[in-house]
Amino acid sequence: MSEEFELLSAGASLDAVGLVAQLALAGPDAESSRPRVVAAMIGSADGRAAVEGRAGGLGSPADRAVLRELRCNVDAILIGPTTLIDERYSTLLDADHRERRIAAGLPAEPIAATISRRLSPGLAELELFAQQGQRIVVYTESDLPIEARGAELTVARSGPGELTLAGCLEDLYANHGVRTLLSEGGPTLLRALAAEGLIDDFIFTVSPLLVAGSAPTLLSGEAFEPPLGLELENVWRSESFLFLHYTRQR
Ligand SMILES: NC(=O)c1ccc[n+]([C@@H]2O[C@H](COP(=O)([O-])OP(=O)(O)OC[C@H]3O[C@@H](n4cnc5c(N)ncnc54)[C@H](OP(=O)(O)O)[C@@H]3O)[C@@H](O)[C@H]2O)c1
Repeated sequence: MSEEFELLSAGASLDAVGLVAQLALAGPDAESSRPRVVAAMIGSADGRAAVEGRAGGLGSPADRAVLRELRCNVDAILIGPTTLIDERYSTLLDADHRERRIAAGLPAEPIAATISRRLSPGLAELELFAQQGQRIVVYTESDLPIEARGAELTVARSGPGELTLAGCLEDLYANHGVRTLLSEGGPTLLRALAAEGLIDDFIFTVSPLLVAGSAPTLLSGEAFEPPLGLELENVWRSESFLFLHYTRQR
């Protein structure tokens, strides 16, 4: 475990900026042809990823601050189409964060990218697609039309069976200048990223709730046999919320 291990006392406010700084979002290795990928998810203490179909019921101001801070520091975010729709994605950052990015010489908002073989109906109706200047990249195998209403939309179409996550990440790297990417889930996308060895950092927020029921867990899909190993790099807490930073076991 990193010597920078730090456990904040109960009630201390989480230094979201410090967390991001310690993530060292410096970008990928020199020989890499894809962005560095940080995955961030919140789960209940019993591992569930949603309450009544949405992640919001698990969160806290500190958790939301961490997510915004991560968004503020990456070139792109990658979100599964079901999550985009279920969570009703709209603006990604508030005015303060946008100004900070502009002052740092970055575009005001990170690119929002998604991958959907069949092009989920309802995507283009999201508020996100109406955000003036928001750059969106959609990777799909579908021929269905999709249009933005204010956003700058790029649709990258692949032939049947040709769409891969690794290919999308390489395209974001080569054609959109994406060096750091935050994946905000959902559980299906996260499993697919993990299966292909495409997650470099995993930020898991443990929410102090027991949910039970049939909500998805952090990863959905077939079991990994054997399970994939992680290394714990750092731990933070804010009141009863726990923030765990893992990297892949090498
Ligand atoms: N707790 C949290 O932090 C958190 C975060 C995010 C979401 N959530 C919750 O999770 C739920 C939604 O998650 P979900 O797992 O159902 O959906 P999801 O991961 O958001 O999206 C799943 C879809 O992504 C596409 N996809 C995934 N992997 C792909 C690949 N390798 N190649 C091509 N397309 C791929 C597929 O779309 P096509 O079928 O079109 O191919 C698939 O149906 C919601 O309840 C949401 O609130 C929780």
